[in-house]
Amino acid sequence: GPATDQWAAEVRRLADERGAVILAHNYQRPEIQDVAHHTGDSLALSRLAVEVAAETIVFCGVHFMAETAKILSPEKTVLLPEPAAGCSLADTITAADVRAWRAEHPGAIVVAYVNTTAAVKAESDICCTSSNAADVIRSVPADREILFLPDQFLGAHVKRVTGRDNIHVWMGECHVHAGIDGDTLRRRAAEEPDAELFVHPECGCATSALYLVGAGTVPQERVKVLSTGGMLAAAEQTSADKVLIATETGMLHQLRAANAHTVFEPVNSRAECHYMKMITAEKLLGSLRDGTTEITVPEDVAARARRSVERMVAIGA
Ligand code: 13P
Ligand code: SF4
Repeated sequence: GPATDQWAAEVRRLADERGAVILAHNYQRPEIQDVAHHTGDSLALSRLAVEVAAETIVFCGVHFMAETAKILSPEKTVLLPEPAAGCSLADTITAADVRAWRAEHPGAIVVAYVNTTAAVKAESDICCTSSNAADVIRSVPADREILFLPDQFLGAHVKRVTGRDNIHVWMGECHVHAGIDGDTLRRRAAEEPDAELFVHPECGCATSALYLVGAGTVPQERVKVLSTGGMLAAAEQTSADKVLIATETGMLHQLRAANAHTVFEPVNSRAECHYMKMITAEKLLGSLRDGTTEITVPEDVAARARRSVERMVAIGA
């Protein structure tokens, strides 16, 4: 394949020549994660987009992530190696949907998961990621109604952990994480009774994981609901022989590199995001060579979205 040492050296040479930093999400192909200057979850990559000194960011991830980097750092050039790399979850809600929903709930605070378009962020009050969603909810006064969008499983999760009952949840889902369902988790947990479970809150099985705890099938301390960055931190700490991973399978690359003593296995080995995998070795090289594809956000939209995204970046671990 094209992902040779020579390819990696050429990618780094072109990045230096362009004054570019390469950021990669934890679901990217292994060779992309390995060649990147930084890898991380959505929140960490948003913070890095602000912190890095480079004038150009090559974002190896999906479109909303590149937009978020541009919103936070409008003076930087943000390149996405494949502009068609979208997100099925972000596609479940439009800016017009948010306006109509808000009109039904005057006075409510709109909390938007970062997996949304810039236009949706511009209609929202505060953004969150999977690693700070509960902290963002807690930052909203307890008596204010909340409209949480667009992910129903993350929405159900934050309702549970905050104990708030004044949260309305948009019924969107990510096709990849929805496919990691309760039946699959129950079967895998029964096959591996001593394994720990790391579950991304976007999963269809996020509720089932806690059900397994409630039913006494899996002890509480063996189940963790985590962002991808949280999974990596937990992988470095665990002394378990085996951990079952409920998220997109790209995550396994980082987990296995972080801890050679523990076996990490997917709950669903077909849980692959084809959008994330659109960033290939060739696309990254072409992006650095040709300066493609530059992601822009109209300034009026960016200005309104920036308030929501900056609040997100300021909250939580
Ligand atoms: P994280 O913020 O946990 O990395 O999740 C991003 C994402 O797209 C999940 O599908
Ligand atoms: Fe979107 Fe799902 Fe892919 Fe994450 S895994 S980028 S939520 S489609």
